[in-house]
Amino acid sequence: MKALVTGGAGFIGRWLVKKLLEENFEVWIIDNLENGRESNLDEFHNHPLLKGVVYDDVLNLKALNSVFAFKPDIVFHLAAQINVHESLETPNKAYESNIKGTYNVLEECRALGTKIMLMGTCMVYDMAGSHKPINEDHPLKPTSPYAASKLSAEILAQSYYYSYGLPVVTCRPFNTYGPYQKYNLEGGVVSIFVRQTLNGDSLEIFGDGTQTRDLLYVEDCVDFVYAASRCEQALGQVINAGSGTDIAIMDLARMICPDESKIRLVDHRHPQSEIPKLLCDYSKARSLLGWEPKVDLKSGIQKLKEQLQEICV
Ligand SMILES: NC(=O)c1ccc[n+]([C@@H]2O[C@H](COP(=O)([O-])OP(=O)(O)OC[C@H]3O[C@@H](n4cnc5c(N)ncnc54)[C@H](O)[C@@H]3O)[C@@H](O)[C@H]2O)c1
Repeated sequence: MKALVTGGAGFIGRWLVKKLLEENFEVWIIDNLENGRESNLDEFHNHPLLKGVVYDDVLNLKALNSVFAFKPDIVFHLAAQINVHESLETPNKAYESNIKGTYNVLEECRALGTKIMLMGTCMVYDMAGSHKPINEDHPLKPTSPYAASKLSAEILAQSYYYSYGLPVVTCRPFNTYGPYQKYNLEGGVVSIFVRQTLNGDSLEIFGDGTQTRDLLYVEDCVDFVYAASRCEQALGQVINAGSGTDIAIMDLARMICPDESKIRLVDHRHPQSEIPKLLCDYSKARSLLGWEPKVDLKSGIQKLKEQLQEICV
């Protein structure tokens, strides 16, 4: 089997590449390195099944064509502009990469009849109710151009499923964390807090810290995506994955940083785009794919700490 991973030099992308190589896929990657890093792929450079890495943009049709020339059996489309704040300040980037970029990838898939796993996000949902986790039928509420662009990409891909019979599966992971995630604002809150704690810096929380997140360890995320890509019944479906528990950001900060005097509340830059409660109902993933998360938050944070400490020495 031949797989193309767009965004393969990014955080989740590099773990997916690792998984695909372990599953004996031949792998090609396209990534413009806007937020990815060449070093994320260091571990695989001499791997005989890593067939090609093209550092270019999915908006560049010539480059995209060059990776489709290998006629992949499946495309894992992860390339996206992921920064919510940036999308609020300059929405054009989210539109270009996430909508137009997805259109380009879909057109290549259509030409070859290539299956596509489209990476969605939980950020398209309205907040969870106090006792009601978010399943796939939960109301949608894109509160940022990032969320809107990801949702638009999903709907576009679904139209290719219905119009052209293109095999499409859409995965919506909840907030994913783990080693190799960046620890600046384009990274996730867990990486940022762990880094700040290791540096002895203050941890800054936007707003009052009561907002909750359902945090999914990255290897669980990748197992989910892979299982969805292998499941016939998943075609045409949207599927959530999360840990099934949520944690308030203030409690997460306390869990990571034992010194509470280091935790500071700061004004939210974009309070209108904050989702107060994100909690996943992953029963569809469990029943359809037999998928369950394996790594609890404490162990996941420990793995992340170990990797960040290694980088520091
Ligand atoms: N991290 C999370 O919590 C999370 C949760 C749900 C869904 N997702 C989705 O998973 C995917 C991967 O996210 P991530 O956290 O690994 O982010 P990431 O930024 O590390 O990965 C995205 C990769 O895509 C590349 N890229 C961006 N625009 C591109 C373009 N136009 N052409 C080619 N490459 C481009 C970036 O350089 C980066 O390497 C994204 O689609 C994101 O929306 C992420």
